[in-house]
Amino acid sequence: MRTRRDNSSLIVQVPAKINLSLRILGRRDDGFHDLETLMVSVRMYDSIRFDLQESPLVQLTSTSLLPNEKPLPNDDRNLIIQAAQLLQRTTETRSGAIIHLNKRIPSEAGMGGGSSDAAATLVALNQLWELNLSQEKLHQLAASLGSDLNFFLDSNVAAICTGRGEIVTPVRVKRPLHFVIVKPQSGLSTADVFKHWTAHSSPETPHHDEIVQALESGGLSQISWLVTNSLQGSARNLSREIEKSLELLDQHDIVVSGMTGSGSACFGLCRSRKSANRVARKIQSLGVMESWAVTSGV
Ligand code: C5P
Repeated sequence: MRTRRDNSSLIVQVPAKINLSLRILGRRDDGFHDLETLMVSVRMYDSIRFDLQESPLVQLTSTSLLPNEKPLPNDDRNLIIQAAQLLQRTTETRSGAIIHLNKRIPSEAGMGGGSSDAAATLVALNQLWELNLSQEKLHQLAASLGSDLNFFLDSNVAAICTGRGEIVTPVRVKRPLHFVIVKPQSGLSTADVFKHWTAHSSPETPHHDEIVQALESGGLSQISWLVTNSLQGSARNLSREIEKSLELLDQHDIVVSGMTGSGSACFGLCRSRKSANRVARKIQSLGVMESWAVTSGV
């Protein structure tokens, strides 16, 4: 995430992510699932402005820069508010913040927008409120808020995430990856998609060593073998739009298509930035789904 500071305010650009592969290892006693997933940051950003308040007031407003998005909750159902309140409770600071979110990462898409916003909130308010919490403490707080925040906390380009997603092992990607993303109008709830997962709906998925080798080779055909998602079966059962998105992508010039996270966004891996731009424009012109070209990185 990139931060810009100006006196008593801070502006942060926070990236989205794509899960190139996602393997569920099993259901846990705490209701979560153990998984192994390869997450890649992509250059699609929400922007958040934090204005320091000398009172403990924390207030959020948001503007969606996307068409067809449902308005976001601005109360404590929003992870940004949860992150700010958690910092206040943990440190007993008397500081507050007026926060404004400009949303470009689609919601209920499996692109980690809410988690990335919340991770950025922990980092930004730690600075703005001069709390001096260590990165280790921020990781602890992040994990208590959700499974994907830890990936975003260290501005990783790519990492293999295990446990319920909060154990992050950075991996090197030899070359930038170019994607086209499509997002059906309807989103999917992460909790619902996990709930409908069954062991037999999981395909064979690559293991840690295979992921590392493919990324280090930088070869698109090796990387394309990584693209699998244990949650695709249950997402398909919940929404016909997943099938349609993948079919739409497969009709275009891409190397491989897949679903990110718990959906509903799907992606195509492309040969170049130019090719990703071309495919995104073509799909956008059909007027059936939103489409963007994005490149890996933070
Ligand atoms: O952790 P996060 O808030 O992103 O998860 C949302 C929901 O997705 C959880 O409440 C849980 O139902 C499900 N989930 C899961 N196993 C994971 C991550 C999420 O079952 N590893």
